[in-house]
Amino acid sequence: MPAVVKQRISRRPRPLATGLGEKGVLTQLAGRRLLVVTGKGGVGKSAVAATLGTLLARAGRRALVLEVDPRENVHQMLDVPPSGGDIVEAAERLFLQNLQPRQVVDQLVRDRVRIELIARRILASPLYHNFVEGAPVLEEAAILGHCLLLAEGRSRGAPPLDVVVLDAPATGHGVSLLSAPSLVSAAIAAGPLAELTGEVAELIGDTERSAVVVVTQAEEMPVTEALELRTELAARLDRSPELLVVNQLLPGGPPRPRAGESAAAKLWRRRRRLQDHEVGRLAAAWPGRRWELPLLPFDRGPELIEALAAAAAGQDA
Ligand SMILES: Nc1ncnc2c1ncn2[C@@H]1O[C@H](COP(=O)(O)OP(=O)(O)O)[C@@H](O)[C@H]1O
Ligand SMILES: [Mg+2]
Repeated sequence: MPAVVKQRISRRPRPLATGLGEKGVLTQLAGRRLLVVTGKGGVGKSAVAATLGTLLARAGRRALVLEVDPRENVHQMLDVPPSGGDIVEAAERLFLQNLQPRQVVDQLVRDRVRIELIARRILASPLYHNFVEGAPVLEEAAILGHCLLLAEGRSRGAPPLDVVVLDAPATGHGVSLLSAPSLVSAAIAAGPLAELTGEVAELIGDTERSAVVVVTQAEEMPVTEALELRTELAARLDRSPELLVVNQLLPGGPPRPRAGESAAAKLWRRRRRLQDHEVGRLAAAWPGRRWELPLLPFDRGPELIEALAAAAAGQDA
């Protein structure tokens, strides 16, 4: 599958002016090669990955958002046709690619095994199929390997890039994804795959070249999982996330109870109270940078990303 760059079919809204604040986390992220956006499914990982890609592209970085999810939806957020595995140009300096995890492993074999006939034989062999299917860790390592090749201009047919924003797969745990390269490189002694996974493990271990962005919602389960992820990341990889994004916050101050209030008002009050409690829990246990993004009245589309980008940039000063 050649990674052909598709033309964008519609122009995005005119970019905002984008001087990055000196102290903002965006400035910090803009210097990295790889941003891994992780979190529980449905919290808004893809929306945040698209927002980060947009902001970085506007700040002058050539950014690619890599979505590894069969339910392709980042293209709608960026207002371009489905990627279907190709690299799509979504705006100036902004690219998008959607790959199935399995396609990533196959593409990696193609990238590493330069002789097409041999690559085809490997991909068609039952041994290869059984091997990949039985080892999810390989897929996870391959996803990060693909990111590294993209970010370093070593993926065939890809445009030159400064940064890859990985919208991490919803399945599995963020820490297992990030630990996969070192597990695989320890298990495979030699060969091109061992070399690549070794390089990826180094990239993940290097806090000057990679960053972890955790997305959550202000609800009990996602918050608990985000906190667990932070603890595990410290224990297993000795690093902390560079940014926590609390997404889909209900607007407005804490409403007061009123006599004779409707069931809807009561529900709203309760949800707001729970939300404040969960944001408080995060604020107490998460020392790093945090963005709080509102729940917006838009469908998944460019308006949503535009509004999230404005909200994020507003907090990043
Ligand atoms: N801040 C927000 N306001 C309104 N809708 C949002 C917001 N963030 C995400 N969404 C919507 O919620 C749904 C899930 O978001 P998505 O980014 O696809 O989640 P994930 O990638 O974590 O599964 C999508 O339809 C998306 O458009
Ligand atoms: Mg998604």
